[in-house]
Amino acid sequence: MADLTVDVAGLRLENPFILASGVWGETGATLARALRAGAAAVVTKSVGLRPRPGYPNPTIVEVPSGLINSMGLPNPGIEEYGAEMEEALRPGRPVIGSIFGATAGEFAALARRMERWGVSALELNLSCPHAKGLGAQLGQDPGTTKRITAAVKAAVDIPVFVKLTPTVASIAAIGRAAAAGGADALVAINTLKAMAIDLDLCIPVLGHGTGGYSGPGIKPVGVACVYELFKAVRVPLIGAGGVSTGEDAAEYLMAGATALEVGTLVLRKRDRTFRQLSRELARFLASRGHRSARSLTGRAHRGD
Ligand SMILES: Cc1cc2nc3c(=O)[nH]c(=O)nc-3n(C[C@H](O)[C@H](O)[C@H](O)COP(=O)(O)O)c2cc1C
Repeated sequence: MADLTVDVAGLRLENPFILASGVWGETGATLARALRAGAAAVVTKSVGLRPRPGYPNPTIVEVPSGLINSMGLPNPGIEEYGAEMEEALRPGRPVIGSIFGATAGEFAALARRMERWGVSALELNLSCPHAKGLGAQLGQDPGTTKRITAAVKAAVDIPVFVKLTPTVASIAAIGRAAAAGGADALVAINTLKAMAIDLDLCIPVLGHGTGGYSGPGIKPVGVACVYELFKAVRVPLIGAGGVSTGEDAAEYLMAGATALEVGTLVLRKRDRTFRQLSRELARFLASRGHRSARSLTGRAHRGD
């Protein structure tokens, strides 16, 4: 049996598969359920300083090869989130706290609080494509990315992951800025800004208008981003975007990822997601004579 264990910035994972932020991880109970169902780690939904209702319904529409969501970062605020954390930590596996804010100071305050709740690492959401003054609007600027990352690094002792948007002229430039700010790992990618129109009503389908595209259709975008980041920085990369099979995971690993986050697939497969992905990746590794998932990282760069 091929060895699936990986290490991301000191986080030892039993397999490379992590539940992505915002999908199925709304509560401590669902985070714990994903861990019991074979996820090596989970990322919480993105949490801000104050409660936020999110955008009006409908917030999800199915499109070819994926879906568009405009959840709008609904969350109960960091103080309320403590109760969820207690339950999420019960299985004893790594929980990664995702946070979003409008300023470096807000990110640092949220990071300190999350660290006290007992998370193993932080993930900075600098990449949500549909939240004004937040997410991608911050993460599209290298200076802001570096400043926020550095402020969080100075505030906590746990590893800090920075989640990047693909909607930039150069993801390598943003990755370098995050690394210069002290990022311990980079996550690529968040969703891509997208829209669907209702042809009968002649209006956008989603209540908010635009949303973020996820699922199999964005996998080639994610793989290209990871490939470019691997060339640009020397920090571990976590691939995300359309991972649906063990072979998708292998592709991300070869592009340069050390681990994977899985979102949209979980909406369809629920408890079956993670063990199935691990089985498929193990089968792929064995079929090609690879001893470990680790050994695949960056393989596609050998000819560079
Ligand atoms: C319904 C939904 C909600 C999401 N919420 C968040 C969120 O709160 N924070 C975040 O960083 N990413 C969020 N994402 C993005 C995912 O974490 C992931 O980066 C993206 O969906 C690509 O992976 P996938 O194709 O496997 O879904 C969300 C995605 C979906 C589909």
